[in-house]
Amino acid sequence: MKRVAILISGGGSNMVALVNSMTGDHPGRPVLVASNDPAAGGLAKAAAAGIATAAVDHRTFGKDRAAFEGALLHHIEAANPDVLCLAGFMRVLTPAFVARFEGRMLNIHPSLLPKYPGLHTHQRALDAGDAEAGCTVHEVTAVLDDGPILGQARVPVLPGDTADSLAARVLVQEHRLYPAALRNYLSGNRTPIALP
Ligand code: GAR
Repeated sequence: MKRVAILISGGGSNMVALVNSMTGDHPGRPVLVASNDPAAGGLAKAAAAGIATAAVDHRTFGKDRAAFEGALLHHIEAANPDVLCLAGFMRVLTPAFVARFEGRMLNIHPSLLPKYPGLHTHQRALDAGDAEAGCTVHEVTAVLDDGPILGQARVPVLPGDTADSLAARVLVQEHRLYPAALRNYLSGNRTPIALP
């Protein structure tokens, strides 16, 4: 069994999808859900599922990202994970943190990378007049929202879509894609998944 730690910043719906998938013959088990925001709604959901949780408020550390990550690392190391999943984790990680987990850290991003790294992905897809949008699971490298792609799911952009309506349609696919990509990854399969 591979030990999986999940980092969140908000409601944690992707975290819940990952946790729910890790049963039976799944090669992973959740060992920690950690957040940079003590008020993140996902923390209570993880605790209710019986998973250890940790909160390290990044605001306590001002601009000192290394100190924040040191405190976070303390909790992560205690859980001894094999793999780290970023699931709506909204802090940019330092190269040193990424290097420590390179090759065993995944992220889900709400765009069809390499399109639209960073923020406001859905509005940018709408502004560009794209016919489709989607989400990507990838390995985390030192470059933001870069790294080998493990899977993508696509959705059509519909007439009248707003950033919110598009985000909601993409999120449904995120909940399918991330568990499938994690299972594949933990099984040693690096062939990217493509969901329609
Ligand atoms: C998801 O849409 C995820 O793709 C996005 O934040 C949302 C978190 O929702 N992540 C990023 O934008 C990372 N840069 P959740 O907390 O309900 O899983």
